[in-house]
Amino acid sequence: MKTRIAVLVSGGGTNLQALIDAAGRGEIPHGEIALVVSNNAEAYALQRAAKAGIPAAICVREKGEPRADFEARLLEILRENDIEMLILAGFMAILSAEFVRHYPERIINVHPALIPSFCGEGFYGLRVHRAALDYGVKVTGATVHYVNEIPDGGRIIAQKAVDILPGDTPETLQRRVMEQAEWILLPRAAESVAKEIMDHKEAPL
Ligand code: GAR
Repeated sequence: MKTRIAVLVSGGGTNLQALIDAAGRGEIPHGEIALVVSNNAEAYALQRAAKAGIPAAICVREKGEPRADFEARLLEILRENDIEMLILAGFMAILSAEFVRHYPERIINVHPALIPSFCGEGFYGLRVHRAALDYGVKVTGATVHYVNEIPDGGRIIAQKAVDILPGDTPETLQRRVMEQAEWILLPRAAESVAKEIMDHKEAPL
């Protein structure tokens, strides 16, 4: 029995694609991408899931809806699908301490910078790369980490540095960080955490 993984997305889903491709190559033998959940009904990631034949759910936080209500609906979807591990792959929402308590050391996130630089609330997507360029750092990268109650504050699993080149824009830098770091690190981390969870499951009688 493989660890049942849900990948949470909000947008383009290139990291989801990297996970699907790695699984297809047999590189995530201890995990199964059992579900994709999007908090954006228009996310292109949903088309990637459909193309790969992975069940998908849409869970949008309605205007004015308390976060606890949104998270209760999300939790229900995950429970219905017997999900054991979550991967945040471009999921643009912060999960509460109450929510993450349901999945201790079972939620991982990919962040497009070398944590603790350019991270925390407000640092997501292209904003992260813009901040790195504005600061003038010469090296950035990506981080995969466990998710705890502090935004981008959980234990680091893997990091990879990526050079910033003269003339970089947030877009060119985002692409390089994805290609050279995120798409490599995330599937590897997914496998190691899925294996860790499997190793700790009780053996069936
Ligand atoms: C990725 O660069 C991911 O690291 C980042 O959003 C992008 C999503 O792209 N995530 C964050 O900034 C979270 N703080 P994708 O939808 O193509 O995977």
